[in-house]
Amino acid sequence: MSKGCTSQIQEKVGSSSRSTRTGAPLKLPSPSWPIPELRFSPLGADITLVVLHQDRLTHCTLHPEEASLLRGNVATKRWNDFVLGRAAARLALIGAGVRNPSPVLQGSGREPVWPQKIVGSITHCGPWAIAAVANNESVEAVGIDLEDAQDVPHEEIAGMVCSDSEREWVFASGDNQLKLAMIFSAKEAIYKALYPLCKKFFDFHAVELTWFPQSNQFRGILLVDLGSKWPKGYRFKVGCQKRATFVFAHAIVTKRALVSEDAQGFSAT
Ligand SMILES: CC(C)(COP(=O)(O)OP(=O)(O)OC[C@H]1O[C@@H](n2cnc3c(N)ncnc32)[C@H](O)[C@@H]1OP(=O)(O)O)[C@@H](O)C(=O)NCCC(=O)NCCS
Repeated sequence: MSKGCTSQIQEKVGSSSRSTRTGAPLKLPSPSWPIPELRFSPLGADITLVVLHQDRLTHCTLHPEEASLLRGNVATKRWNDFVLGRAAARLALIGAGVRNPSPVLQGSGREPVWPQKIVGSITHCGPWAIAAVANNESVEAVGIDLEDAQDVPHEEIAGMVCSDSEREWVFASGDNQLKLAMIFSAKEAIYKALYPLCKKFFDFHAVELTWFPQSNQFRGILLVDLGSKWPKGYRFKVGCQKRATFVFAHAIVTKRALVSEDAQGFSAT
């Protein structure tokens, strides 16, 4: 994979048992089993995207420093998600041109800490893990999130996640659960993009979204102040793609946006 190109690796082999290996280099067989189950459109010329299925777990390893982030008696599901997410991250880093990537550690807000000059994001859902990375020369932050719409309990979370206008959109016609999953996923992607920049927790009511189906994007507005670069009223876009029952949201903060007079620059195309 060449530097700067958008790529996806989707493969399926082996078993889904707990992976316990640490330290050895990540060795995945050549990607000769592309599984078209979960393929996403390119996020942008500078973003490297890697999608891994848990059936690849037996090929995945952790750096010892990464393994030490999982202290105590961690549930098998969490262990496997973490291993697969870190494997996806390492493959994405290699795809973005990083040689022998250093471990992806964790910041105080549990955000992944990437090698110098790289930004990125990780998500896990069901049997899948996805990592997206970019060079920080063109991209300031990336946030991605994958949700299975079937698992979103829409009645219960709508109040916690949605503003009045978002609830109107979610419950206006059919596909209520899908639309709620889209809002939920988009807001988590926004959080993952902005938290590493502002280092502030903000909840689901900090943002209001409006769906634009022609471009598969939400337009959003910040309803709280997250600092001078991200003031209340800041406008942005978040992409959202649907595959099978899954919803994949992606928020990309470009450098261009910061120098543009167009306040809509927090872009996901
Ligand atoms: C942090 C959070 C977004 C994670 O989302 P999730 O759906 O639970 O889980 P996912 O599998 O999609 O993502 C987990 C990954 O997110 C990343 N992550 C965790 N905290 C993060 C943070 N503060 N900033 C950026 N990325 C973070 C990690 O890489 C984590 O995986 P890892 O622990 O294996 O490294 C979610 O748990 C949360 O706290 N949400 C509340 C805040 C929020 O969403 N506000 C909405 C603002 S509009």
